[in-house]
Amino acid sequence: MKNELYAVVGNPISHSKSPRIHSLFARQTGGPIEYTAIQAPLEDFAGTVKHFFEGGGKGLNVTVPFKEQAWTLAEHRTPRAEMAGAANTLYLDQDNDLVADNTDGVGIVRDLHDNQKVPLKGARILVLGAGGAVRGVLGPLLAEQPAALTIANRTVAKAEALVRLFAHSAENIALSACGFDQPAQPYDVIINGTSASLQGDLPPISANVIGPDTVVYDMMYSLQTTTFNQWAKDNGAQRVYDGLGMLVEQAAEAFYVWRGVRPETAPVIDELRND
Ligand code: ATR
Repeated sequence: MKNELYAVVGNPISHSKSPRIHSLFARQTGGPIEYTAIQAPLEDFAGTVKHFFEGGGKGLNVTVPFKEQAWTLAEHRTPRAEMAGAANTLYLDQDNDLVADNTDGVGIVRDLHDNQKVPLKGARILVLGAGGAVRGVLGPLLAEQPAALTIANRTVAKAEALVRLFAHSAENIALSACGFDQPAQPYDVIINGTSASLQGDLPPISANVIGPDTVVYDMMYSLQTTTFNQWAKDNGAQRVYDGLGMLVEQAAEAFYVWRGVRPETAPVIDELRND
């Protein structure tokens, strides 16, 4: 049987863990799958996508810096992609139209709620950052019905814009925006969605947001404890998680979207952690 072709597109792409994750899914589910990494030229993402699907490709994952372009390029968007304003998953429908989906938000919710057993319903959540990564996860987080979700960002206007955008998904949820100087009480869950750690920076947030029961989640992943999680631990956080689980969960959801089969994620997360 001929292999079905999938790939992740980004620039740069050599660091991507997606080929490894999807090859583990393929081994587990027994499908005839080939999953590669494609570096698209910065000025021709659209041409790369066209070429891939014209060559018989079945599905693409999209990563930095093309997620917004993927969203724009698609002829149809799933509701969760529509809200996210960015797409990490592309495929063709029966009419050969390009469909954009976004599985990042489902990924973080599955990791927090299903894997780490963190209650989100009724929780008070603090989200740091208001860029594309945060917009991508707000819809699925709000769907869990937290009691309150505060978006704190360096540029407060961007956090306020997200509050306006998601207000209609936040009935009975205290959704609010502020700067980093404002939050000063312990939260149930703190999610770092800033890209500050890429520059070795920390969002300048009061350590008072961390209580003994606070769960801290950095959407970033690195081999060592992330800068943000180290700060949280140094300030008394007992439960800190990085974004590896989210990465595997968003991949599993994309795999399900393409192939209708949901791979088991726990063994894949374990295997990547030990790589
Ligand atoms: P991404 O796709 O990773 O979300 P982005 O859309 O550029 O990238 O958003 C980056 C986020 O990290 C923003 O919330 C940004 O804050 P601003 O909106 O004020 O720019 C935040 N960020 C980046 N560097 C930061 C730093 N050094 N300290 C605090 N926040 C930072």
